[in-house]
Amino acid sequence: MARRKQVYEGKAKILFEGPEPGTLVQYFKDDATAFNAQKKGTITGKGVLNNRISEYLMMRLEEVGVPNHFIRRLNMREQLIRQVEIIPVEVVVRNIAAGSISKRFAIDEGTKLPRTIVEYYYKNDQLGDPLVSEEHITGFGWASIHEIDDMLNMSLRINDFLSGLFLGIGIKLVDFKVEFGRLWHDNGDMQIILADEISPDNCRLWDAKTNDKMDKDRFRRDLGRIEEAYQEVARRLGILPESGPSDVQGPATMQ
Ligand code: TMP
Repeated sequence: MARRKQVYEGKAKILFEGPEPGTLVQYFKDDATAFNAQKKGTITGKGVLNNRISEYLMMRLEEVGVPNHFIRRLNMREQLIRQVEIIPVEVVVRNIAAGSISKRFAIDEGTKLPRTIVEYYYKNDQLGDPLVSEEHITGFGWASIHEIDDMLNMSLRINDFLSGLFLGIGIKLVDFKVEFGRLWHDNGDMQIILADEISPDNCRLWDAKTNDKMDKDRFRRDLGRIEEAYQEVARRLGILPESGPSDVQGPATMQ
């Protein structure tokens, strides 16, 4: 296979130039990091599972009117996406207290929040993705007030839809992080769309009956059975790859 030009490498994914202008190939790695990459490891088969899980969730979200970058899955670890200009703001939506909000406000993990709480973090590894306010986002020019509005509205719709979808398969959507990008249309119009991925890497998913963690917290907190947890999410969504998550080889694009 012809070598494709790599345009970006993140902690869990690599982006390559796509076959047509305005497209990219998003490759899912098995690499996992936590605590701003101070903790590093691999979760065997994670890339294959996250590629499928993100494909499925993005397709379902498109159907309910949440525009996103997903075009189609190419193979076990790669999907074709629309190229966008990523807005450097991570939007976190929380339904139940866990992780940093539990620490910051001394709320027991598992406490239902009085209402859904949305937070913004500045996407900057060197600074450790600090929590920011709308004032920071507009003041420093990372996004306009209208763009924040679009991101907030879409995040709440994503939360409503995914909360129901996961509850239907016995999973509580505790919280999640999403990223958005600017897509320019040929007529010069700009649209904010959902980008990146939605997977157990950036959601907290708890079994509705047992509260067992089925997400990256198993890696962050050394809870074991990480691969099984990701597989179980895919299994309940009905999308476990036919051949199982056995593709642990390097990407075809990099050979
Ligand atoms: P937090 O409780 O650590 O702030 O995480 C909130 C949610 O955001 C949780 O579902 C995990 C996700 N997340 C990311 O996707 N990337 C990150 O870098 C961090 C810190 C959290």
